[in-house]
Amino acid sequence: MSKTTLTTSSGAPVADDNNSISVGERGPLTFDNHYLFEKLAHFNRERIPERVVHARGTGAYGQFTLTRSLSDYSIADFLQKVGEKTEVFLRFSTVGGGQDSSDYARDPRGFAVKFYTRQGNYDIVGNNTPVFFLNDPIKFPDFIHSQKKNPRTNLPDPAAAFEFWANHPQSLHQMTILMSDRGIPASYRHMHGFGSHTLSLWNAKGERYWVKWHFKTNQGIKTLTDEEASTLPPFGAQKDLVDAIDRGDFPSWAVKIQIMPDTDAEKYHLNPFDLTKVWPYKDYPLIEIGQLELNRNVQNYFAETEQAAFAPSNLVPGTGASPDKMLQARLLAYQDAHRYRVGVNVNQIPVNAPRCPVHHYQRDGFMAGCPMSNGSQIQTSGANYYPNDRAEQGDPAPNPAYREPPLHLSKGAVTTYDQSDVDYYSQAGDLFRVMNADQKRQLANNIAGGLSQANASIQERMLAYLNKADPEYAAMVKAALTA
Ligand code: HEM
Repeated sequence: MSKTTLTTSSGAPVADDNNSISVGERGPLTFDNHYLFEKLAHFNRERIPERVVHARGTGAYGQFTLTRSLSDYSIADFLQKVGEKTEVFLRFSTVGGGQDSSDYARDPRGFAVKFYTRQGNYDIVGNNTPVFFLNDPIKFPDFIHSQKKNPRTNLPDPAAAFEFWANHPQSLHQMTILMSDRGIPASYRHMHGFGSHTLSLWNAKGERYWVKWHFKTNQGIKTLTDEEASTLPPFGAQKDLVDAIDRGDFPSWAVKIQIMPDTDAEKYHLNPFDLTKVWPYKDYPLIEIGQLELNRNVQNYFAETEQAAFAPSNLVPGTGASPDKMLQARLLAYQDAHRYRVGVNVNQIPVNAPRCPVHHYQRDGFMAGCPMSNGSQIQTSGANYYPNDRAEQGDPAPNPAYREPPLHLSKGAVTTYDQSDVDYYSQAGDLFRVMNADQKRQLANNIAGGLSQANASIQERMLAYLNKADPEYAAMVKAALTA
């Protein structure tokens, strides 16, 4: 007999887990089957809604080691002392598919990092690409709808994806990356990560710097062709990561940033807050600031990876957002999604709980006051309003030392801004021109594979955009379409 006694969820020993209580050997069950009811009722509630995007993913814990102090740029506690280690949780994901879809879709990969700093959690919720398909969040639901399954057939719909891109030239740069030979990473370990947005850092003097984060894989880039990907098991990337960490082969990334002084932003030849653009390295070189290593698998996939909640609004003193319109919307969208998907007390779940004391006047709601397995405590006693006369005796009060410097806005009226005449072509063309002949061929064939399923009008519009990026790019796709 096992030394550990099976219990109910309220801790009482269970005598029989194989047989329900019934009236006689062949009779119906009775109402005193409360243990059976507990099991069935809990089972009915085992699922929460999957993420509306990035549903399929894999997470692991690790650490970020700072190798270059950023004290000149930021007061952020975890960016001061060389050698300082900060615990992290990183979740990789695909974007469009549901939880049971393949790890090997031609799709961007999510790269979401939670830094558990002493001053709260700092989340960089990025992708494996430095840009995105959009620069205005109002298009996000339309874009995602076009990439997901057809609402009638429940099947992938490449024609819809290309229809969206044919109407939105702002997608051209990211579409070129997605359709390139880098469009299907061979594993989560063999790809880069990017914060993608322009974020910010600010220092003790109140100076702000615009920053782009890059996580460069130390494992090297490895990618798959569509043919190779189609032969692999759907959960191969999950297995690859879990197995590597279990055998002690810890994956790591060199953490680098590009820094732009606030004063450059107005005069830079690109809008530095346009998420469809990169900052060329020749303008703002990469500066290595640390190493990120993953070294611990989760104990329970649901509790940790599924309930993990990353939010671009999780910022700590010395860091900040930017006027990037996409980022602005994300500051709202993620916390809203978490309240729906996980619940109002999402930050009390151990994977999300800060590793520092939490003091605030928010109270109650579903699952309030869960004990923190990591030792951090949330204060739930004492005054539940602010200001209160007890603040000086220890009840929490705001500290003006952490006030973020003001954001200097460029002048403009409050209205919608038509961005249709922005140059969405040059950087897509630049990317095409650095590809070798084989990479160009793969790109053209990958585009033609999906575009051939769209109608002639969509094909024409796409070819016109490609022509603006580079006439050779358009010609190659046209040839592949007619091959
Ligand atoms: C307006 C634009 C966007 C909106 C409204 C949006 C919205 C969302 C929502 C609602 C989720 C699910 C969150 C959850 O349930 O926990 C999500 C997940 C995610 N998004 Fe976005 N998103 C946007 C743009 C982006 C961009 C530009 C990136 C990358 C640069 C990105 C990266 C991610 C990642 C990595 C996840 C998964 C996080 C995880 O692993 O839990 N999103 N997004």
